[in-house]
Amino acid sequence: MKLRADFSQRVVIDTNSLAWVDSPLPGVQRRMLDRDGDEIAKATSIVQYAANSYFSPHTHGGGEEFLVLSGTFSDDLGDYPVGTYVRNPCGSSHRPFSRDGCIILVKLWQMDPADQTRVVIRTSEQPWVPGLVPGLNVMPLHTFGTENVALVKWEPGTQFQTHRHWGGEEIYVLAGVFADEQGTYPAGAWLRNPPNSTHTPFSPTGCTIWVKTGHLDIGTNINK
Ligand SMILES: [Fe+2]
Ligand SMILES: [Fe+2]
Repeated sequence: MKLRADFSQRVVIDTNSLAWVDSPLPGVQRRMLDRDGDEIAKATSIVQYAANSYFSPHTHGGGEEFLVLSGTFSDDLGDYPVGTYVRNPCGSSHRPFSRDGCIILVKLWQMDPADQTRVVIRTSEQPWVPGLVPGLNVMPLHTFGTENVALVKWEPGTQFQTHRHWGGEEIYVLAGVFADEQGTYPAGAWLRNPPNSTHTPFSPTGCTIWVKTGHLDIGTNINK
């Protein structure tokens, strides 16, 4: 399956408008954002676990990265409540489940195999640091090579400068409304801005976004 698999294309999706599609596991459904492959795929998805649902034990051949959007995700290593950011490096394995149900934003097979750091950050307990312009606050989550992941909080009326994404940029709007010269993006919007693209973002009403940059030309393309 190829779904929005050409990373040179800009993509904007209101993820709330996508249908939930059953996964092979009972109680586990997903909204596919991008996908290159079948059950083993380079993929970005929003995955919903019903209460008391279990996913099969598996090894992350290409790494796994996720942000818990609601509820609590769990595996044999611990519990990850809403707001937790997790990176399971290439070669790691676990057995995920959820007691009370949860929704996560998850990326598979898009991690540098040399990046072997397991990351677990409860963002609700982490400090924000001032960003590059007034009104902007940043919570760095991870950096490896050209890849950068952070939460960014925009106070109402914050205007950022025009900038270029050499390695692309991906944004998920967690709260509020994010905007740039091409549109406005409410909570649940997912954007993928291709390598070498530019934009001038702002937020009239304020927002909190998950941002990942410098990664769209790395990772393993398992079907090529
Ligand atoms: Fe996993
Ligand atoms: Fe940007």
